[in-house]
Amino acid sequence: MSEPPMHPLLAQAQALADEARSAAAAAVDLPSIAAVRARFVGRNGALKGLLRSIATVPPGDRPAVGAAVNRLAAEVEALLDGRRRALEDADADVPADATFDPTLPGARLPLGSVHPVSIVLDEIRAVFTRLGFDEVSGPEVEDAWHNFDALNIPADHPAREPTDQFYAEGARLLRSQTSTVQVRVMESRQPPLRIFAPGRVYRPETVDARHLYAFHQVEGLVVDEDVSFADLKGCIGTFARSMYGDGVVTRFRPHHFPFTEVSAELDVRCPACGGAAGPCPTCGGEGWIEVLGCGMVHPDVFRKVGYDPERWTGFAFGLGVERIAMRRWGLDDIRMLEDNDVRFLSQFRC
Ligand code: DAH
Repeated sequence: MSEPPMHPLLAQAQALADEARSAAAAAVDLPSIAAVRARFVGRNGALKGLLRSIATVPPGDRPAVGAAVNRLAAEVEALLDGRRRALEDADADVPADATFDPTLPGARLPLGSVHPVSIVLDEIRAVFTRLGFDEVSGPEVEDAWHNFDALNIPADHPAREPTDQFYAEGARLLRSQTSTVQVRVMESRQPPLRIFAPGRVYRPETVDARHLYAFHQVEGLVVDEDVSFADLKGCIGTFARSMYGDGVVTRFRPHHFPFTEVSAELDVRCPACGGAAGPCPTCGGEGWIEVLGCGMVHPDVFRKVGYDPERWTGFAFGLGVERIAMRRWGLDDIRMLEDNDVRFLSQFRC
């Protein structure tokens, strides 16, 4: 095939392509690249525009001349693409020293804060660890033996009603108290022992300002020879002073729990009103605040876990963590501790 004849249209196209190449080389930014593209090879560009005059070429030469013009246009487009990519890369690759100032402070990462329930738990942990207790834990999904039977809670006890527990399949339930851990520890260890067990417990309560269906308790258990109620009072008293200050006034009020005998509740003098008569939002005018349940481990509980009640004695206690937190910070709605609202939570220490 012979070379296409140098038709004036083709000569014109080559001249335009040369012009476009120098314009592309001179373009220093993306807008000028785009301008060169529009001027020469865009829909209305000069090179493409030449094809509208293809009728001036003799019919036999038209295909060859048309193809040659298109090739020139494609070359110019490729050149412009290359320039555009080079400029974009250079843009992304701004010299480090132009933007990096090593004297500026680093980006500050948002820090969380310790949840108030965790603050109280950590304090409780510190007290009992100091008193020589081991921290242990137990499962949240329990069986009736550990939640009730081994704790002397008989099958017909109202607390075992289906409406009072979160029962699951296979005679399992979400534990309603951390006292389950006492049983598990005694089943797996021999005395003497001194343990505390923080954990979450579940009860089907309607959630309101004073109730959650899941909350935290800390259980405690001491088993040894010759443990007396005086030991219980000494230990629990130390706990109360650590949590509420040395001057705190405490009282042990008789109570009933199936797994302890004798049983008591510990009250502390209301820190808000000091027991003065009159309306008090903290203690409701009682003058006392209930802190925990406690007692001497029932001999039947020892029997159920295979301890000899003639030899071993012990005391146990259980307390609610949210309640302590609410009094500590004067919260009038327990849901604040559950809502995960950062406006509330960020007010606590980091
Ligand atoms: N388990 C009891 C409750 O959930 C609290 C409790 C009371 C635990 C007395 C004890 C105890 O270990 O001795 O209300």
